[in-house]
Amino acid sequence: MSNPTLELTEAQIAVHWKEEDYLYAIPEFIAQANLKDPSVSKRFSLDNFPQCFDEYAELLTWFRKWDKTLDSSNPPFWKWFTGGTLNASYNCIDRHLKTHKGKAAFIFVPELESEPTITITYQELYNRVNEVAALLRDFCGLKAGDRVTIHMPLVPELPITMLACARLGVIHSVVFGGFSGVACGQRVADSGSHVLVSMDGYYRSGQPIDHKEKVDIAVTTALAEGQRVDKCLIWRRHEGKYLSNTPMVDERDYFMEDVLANYKGQVVAPVPMPAEAPLFLMYTSGTTAKPKGCQHSTGGYLAYVTGTAKYILDIHQEDIYWCMADIGWITGHSYIVYGPLSLGTTNVMYEGVPTYPDAGRPWRIAERLGVNIFHTAPTAIRMLRKVGPDEPLKYNHQFKLMVTVGEPIEPEVWRWYYNTVGRKEAVIVDTWWQTETGGFLCSTKPALDPMKAGSAGPGVPGIHPVIYDEERNELPPGRAGNICIRNPWPGIFQTIWKDPDRFVKTYYAKYCKDPESKDWRDWPYFAGDGALCAPDGYYRILGRVDDVINVAGHRLGTKELESACLVVGEIAEAAVVPVADDARGRVPEIYVALKPGVTATPAIEKAVVNNLENLIGKIARPKSVRIVPDMPKTRSGKIMRRVLAAISNHLPVGDVTTLANPEVVEQIRVMVQGEDPVVEAKDVGDDIRNFGDEK
Ligand code: WT7
Repeated sequence: MSNPTLELTEAQIAVHWKEEDYLYAIPEFIAQANLKDPSVSKRFSLDNFPQCFDEYAELLTWFRKWDKTLDSSNPPFWKWFTGGTLNASYNCIDRHLKTHKGKAAFIFVPELESEPTITITYQELYNRVNEVAALLRDFCGLKAGDRVTIHMPLVPELPITMLACARLGVIHSVVFGGFSGVACGQRVADSGSHVLVSMDGYYRSGQPIDHKEKVDIAVTTALAEGQRVDKCLIWRRHEGKYLSNTPMVDERDYFMEDVLANYKGQVVAPVPMPAEAPLFLMYTSGTTAKPKGCQHSTGGYLAYVTGTAKYILDIHQEDIYWCMADIGWITGHSYIVYGPLSLGTTNVMYEGVPTYPDAGRPWRIAERLGVNIFHTAPTAIRMLRKVGPDEPLKYNHQFKLMVTVGEPIEPEVWRWYYNTVGRKEAVIVDTWWQTETGGFLCSTKPALDPMKAGSAGPGVPGIHPVIYDEERNELPPGRAGNICIRNPWPGIFQTIWKDPDRFVKTYYAKYCKDPESKDWRDWPYFAGDGALCAPDGYYRILGRVDDVINVAGHRLGTKELESACLVVGEIAEAAVVPVADDARGRVPEIYVALKPGVTATPAIEKAVVNNLENLIGKIARPKSVRIVPDMPKTRSGKIMRRVLAAISNHLPVGDVTTLANPEVVEQIRVMVQGEDPVVEAKDVGDDIRNFGDEK
């Protein structure tokens, strides 16, 4: 970081995606907020660490209270609330029955608008979870500590199954429904699950999808890796119907509703679990080597997601909360299931794609159900803005708080969310965190901190971020580096399942001050993201450290480049990848998708180049601008920059079959490389080869 040209570029980064003006929550919001006492910053300062987190643990109901807030005697394997016992299912269900058993826990909205909405009260949730728990225990022989893999779409039976596991202390491993049978099977094998819970089918863009067909593939894949699956439990999307073409396998596959008939009305006592017992595994979406099973705890995790759901999502008893994420991702685990249910919240759950049958669907749902807290990701916001920029104006939904999560949000997109979706009334929280971290790390406190488009905000209460350079120096505000967290917190994952060495190596080794040390201060958590702290203490996340393009020794954040592209009015989406260049090391190549009805012209390409040069500098001049029909995307909607980088660099694109739109990859390849595949065996360097990789 002593290279002066590097500093210059960082200054440029700060200039071209300039610090936006503050925006303040409206007085009505502030008046009702859960967290409006500014003393929270003092309460959660490092001076009060780790005791500050008792405030979150006290939001839970414990069978036995904890003896010690944090046992940090074996870094970095932190143990929170040791000596305490609790049950997650009890906290999410049973404890609400006394006060509001008739309240809706879930309002399920099927994708087909002709299908009725289904409401599940807390009492019904209790009944159904107990019956499933009885089945898992008595029919499958499962007990505390066993693992179960759940590969399901977004339907109420998914959280019901998760909570039934939690009731028994069984560790669930939910695999996102959009993943392939092979991906599921690998996770079954790694977790050592003997039971796989799945579903016959579900709806996507109005069409029934055969999901059960993945079960056979998963079972075969797991077996090839040495793991036998004894039982596959199959939920059905419609009672008495079967949406799959795959036959049920005798003595292995069972319809849930058939077996459940034997457990009608059964009640299972929630098993008191030690606070540090694992609650679930969540595999990070693996594109490279083996996926990592992030192991989350019961007490620390539940306390953390409950506390942050209360303070950052500002959930109150009377709120109607809708998180559009899939429960198959960490966002759904923490901020659909565990955090909100622990607070006794009404959750809206929508089965399908946000733009089905049209771009007004989310606003229609929100209006009809009275949703006042709305939670989604930039990718969805961009898509809704692209296909229906004026749709929100046609509905009378009213949000008090809106959430964005998952990737940096361009100020252009943020402003549409704020002005058009939220009507300048809703507070936005841009929450930065990860599968590994269990809950939020950076976000504004909605009633206390003003919003700033494009910035996540300061560390949330009790989270103390720091920016380091590659040589472990702490960087001052304005300098980009690696964002780390100085201290442990209750939501942090415990380890990588069966791979503690990889856990230490990936997240702690880089910035550990002394591997022999037993002091938590020597073990900052390395998040793997580039970030920049502004003088006001707000963090702007630049993306994964491998998403940074190094042009002639200058670091350019891809998000900054993309944001500049989006300023061009015709452009809906932009992705930037590094291309190896003899002279400059790396040059950015730009891929853009246009708004509907806009025709590709050289003028648009020119406008992009002009914007990059004008907003960032000549250093950002791209090799070329490619106007593509669509971006290659994962099922969860992330743009696969890795695939684009491979095409731009004439590298093999690898397996793209799990993408949402694999066909577009070949179209783009031909556009860039011509008809014949041009794959060159050259060593381009790790930054390009690993570019855009999910961890
Ligand atoms: C990575 C984690 C957190 C749940 C969903 C994603 C990026 C996440 C933000 C944000 C900028 C963000 C980071 C992080 N990210 N939230 N608000 N602003 N970047 O979980 O799949 O584990 O991905 O997503 O790069 O490291 P994940």
